Amino acid sequence: MNTIKIDPVKKIEGTLAVPGDKSISHRAAILGTLAAGETHVANFLTAADCMNTVHACRQLGADIEQAGTSLRIRGCGGLGLKKPSRIIDCGNSGTGVRLLAGVLAGQAFSSVLTGDDQVRRRPMRRIVEPLELMGATIKSRPGYLCPLEIQGRPLHAVHYQVPVASAQVKSCLLLAGLFAEGKTHITLPSLSRDHTERMLAYFGADISRPGNSTPMEAHWAATAKEEVAVQGRTPLQGRKVEVPADISSAAFFMVAAAVLPGSYLRLANVGINPTRTGVVEVLQRMGADIVFGPTRMYSGEPVADIIVKGTRSLRGRPICGEDLIPRLIDELPILAVAAAAAEGETVIEDAAELRVKETDRIGALAEELRKIGIEVEERPDGMVIQGGEIRGGQADSHGDHRLAMSLAIAGLFSEDGVEILHADCVKTSFPGFWECLQSVSA
Ligand code: S3P
Repeated sequence: MNTIKIDPVKKIEGTLAVPGDKSISHRAAILGTLAAGETHVANFLTAADCMNTVHACRQLGADIEQAGTSLRIRGCGGLGLKKPSRIIDCGNSGTGVRLLAGVLAGQAFSSVLTGDDQVRRRPMRRIVEPLELMGATIKSRPGYLCPLEIQGRPLHAVHYQVPVASAQVKSCLLLAGLFAEGKTHITLPSLSRDHTERMLAYFGADISRPGNSTPMEAHWAATAKEEVAVQGRTPLQGRKVEVPADISSAAFFMVAAAVLPGSYLRLANVGINPTRTGVVEVLQRMGADIVFGPTRMYSGEPVADIIVKGTRSLRGRPICGEDLIPRLIDELPILAVAAAAAEGETVIEDAAELRVKETDRIGALAEELRKIGIEVEERPDGMVIQGGEIRGGQADSHGDHRLAMSLAIAGLFSEDGVEILHADCVKTSFPGFWECLQSVSA
């Protein structure tokens, strides 16, 4: 068991380039595999989750060379994917399983997808049912759990209403839709991250947002419900992809700098896709001093430097709403830590999806925050956090990378420091996290 103690610091100072975006890296590896010709990816996230997707893509026939954080992918477009000779193991990555399931459903072979203990507990019915409607046959463990044995078939397009605002489900069906006869229409109850749509458009797919003539960039603000359609059997062409720094990884340091007075932090080249920036909006509402530098585009995704200053103390604010929660779902653990360091009460609602992430992040977070002296009331779809002093002590990550990093940040402004058990799981999404933390701690 790997244990790390984080002691209190006075402030955060410096410039950080956090690693590449996890969601965009998965998609770059997969679309590069499906495309014809070469795809060059810069700033790919070489964390365990995305490397498992790279291994899966190699098993499916892609020729992928890695040099540091650069990938050169020779895609299978035109030639077709290869039947994998072994089970595809996505490790801790629910995104890997769900996105690859969409690809595999339309292939002329059968394959098996699985992952680690946490992934094998995560709900797969949400993808199995619609993929079967499109024509695939999928066997799973009772309760629609991994491993999934996918018998690929010639798929047909469907109109499907996804009951949860899940980007993973939407992306799974868009990828299956690429191999289907006709146009696949997907509706979600509210907006979710749209990296798949952006990258599909960038690779030449015929993807649209029916009923809305506004360009992609403006669409998210124009409607609460989300609709997207993809025309099947349109070839993809390999491209150059530059992956922005991951706003979900940057969020840990944003909170540290916003809470500690006198801090000044520049986070370089961060993806600021509006479907991901809920964390910044909430922190600003809590009183944080956060600004974006000039925006530029990296292969269809907006990017900017983010500057955070520790100028005033934070105040608790409600974090709720179906239009907001999917735009900050992965940042709720670190926002709970921000709430603990703020004045007053913070109520988090409408976040039941947090219970089916790497861990039950409502139960596990409430349990561990209490151990370090934070007053938390657990609710079915969220929690209530009383702000104040954080005493510190020992807490367990439950093997969940985002809990480990959130507890580490809590250690920075605790009285006695926080000792984190099972700390090495940060490698799932953020190799170099501890070094980054040390480099900006003053
Ligand atoms: C992801 C979507 C989110 C998020 C996950 C990554 C993606 O899950 O929690 O870490 O890359 O599409 P859901 O869309 O299932 O909520």
